[in-house]
Amino acid sequence: MKGLALRSSNQDYLSLLAKLVKPEGNRGPLVIDLFAGCGGLSLGFEAAGFDTIGYEMDETYAETYNQNLSGECKVTFLDLETKYPKADIVIGGPPCQPWSETGKNLGEYDKRDGFPAFIKCVDRVRPRIFIAENVKGLSFDKNRHYLDHVISELEALDYVVNQRIVRMSDYGVPQNRERVFIVGHRGGFSFPEKSGKVFTVMDALGMAAKYAPKGATYLTDSEDRYIQSYEEKCQLKTPRDLHLDRPARTLTCRNLSGSTSDMIRLVMPDGRRRKLRVSEAARLQGFPDWFRFSGSDAKALNQIGQSVPPLFSYILAKSVRNYIQESEHQELEVKALH
Ligand SMILES: C[S@@+](CC[C@H](N)C(=O)[O-])C[C@H]1O[C@@H](n2cnc3c(N)ncnc32)[C@H](O)[C@@H]1O
Repeated sequence: MKGLALRSSNQDYLSLLAKLVKPEGNRGPLVIDLFAGCGGLSLGFEAAGFDTIGYEMDETYAETYNQNLSGECKVTFLDLETKYPKADIVIGGPPCQPWSETGKNLGEYDKRDGFPAFIKCVDRVRPRIFIAENVKGLSFDKNRHYLDHVISELEALDYVVNQRIVRMSDYGVPQNRERVFIVGHRGGFSFPEKSGKVFTVMDALGMAAKYAPKGATYLTDSEDRYIQSYEEKCQLKTPRDLHLDRPARTLTCRNLSGSTSDMIRLVMPDGRRRKLRVSEAARLQGFPDWFRFSGSDAKALNQIGQSVPPLFSYILAKSVRNYIQESEHQELEVKALH
């Protein structure tokens, strides 16, 4: 019975991923995706019927976008001078390093801060709705003044601006990833309802989670010893391995491909710990199996670690679609009255 239940939860998760069909052709309103990475955020919008255009400075990431999505990703360094086409929607994940808990945490003094370019784009394009995604650290006390500043700059452009911390596992992604979303609209946008079903690592990976595939990479003895001494020092009660009966910890570039104390790993029945394959990390990040990453494995894991899970993006995009339809409808009613 237990085996059957596991298989059906795995099937349920795969059926959700199957909603992210490979985009073909351009159809709906145009979405501008700033700092587009490999296109995780855009993919959900294309699957929900939008057309997209991405802007990304890294050639390999843009290549991934262009290989998998129907919209074009331009290899561009975004700044205050960048020109954009007319569009109904602007989305984007400005670089998170300035606000990330790991790293130097220079905040607005970090030259990589992408919010000025994001705000400039909204100012130039004046979309019906915009959405910016970033790490939760941006909303912490030490950075709060900057988040408030970003929100007030956007409000000054005549938008209602809401911000929300989203836990991805509340929307069917098998991961406890939390991110801040800033949404600007002209009134009447509703954030999607939580899905109610929580998927685990086992649901996402199936029996593969218990076995090592051919060519699996195991942690080296020194990595194992490093993790053990770290966990003893921190007096961790539960090891930071992936637990099959829970959603995964947050996948990041650092813990997916680096040799760190919190690196993401699966424990095999014989006790050995192995690293995740690119396809497994992609599953845990809510990418469909047909999606292919350009570049080396390390580069693919970086693209995954910094992406918005497309599964969540798809749910968010459907709320945006409802909002756009409703606002177009209201505009028609107003026109009819004149
Ligand atoms: C957090 S990632 C975006 C991930 C993306 N939203 C997704 O879902 O896949 C930020 C991206 O911004 C890119 N980037 C950083 N600064 C940039 C700039 N000034 N112009 C263009 N791209 C930039 C980085 O190369 C990185 O891929």
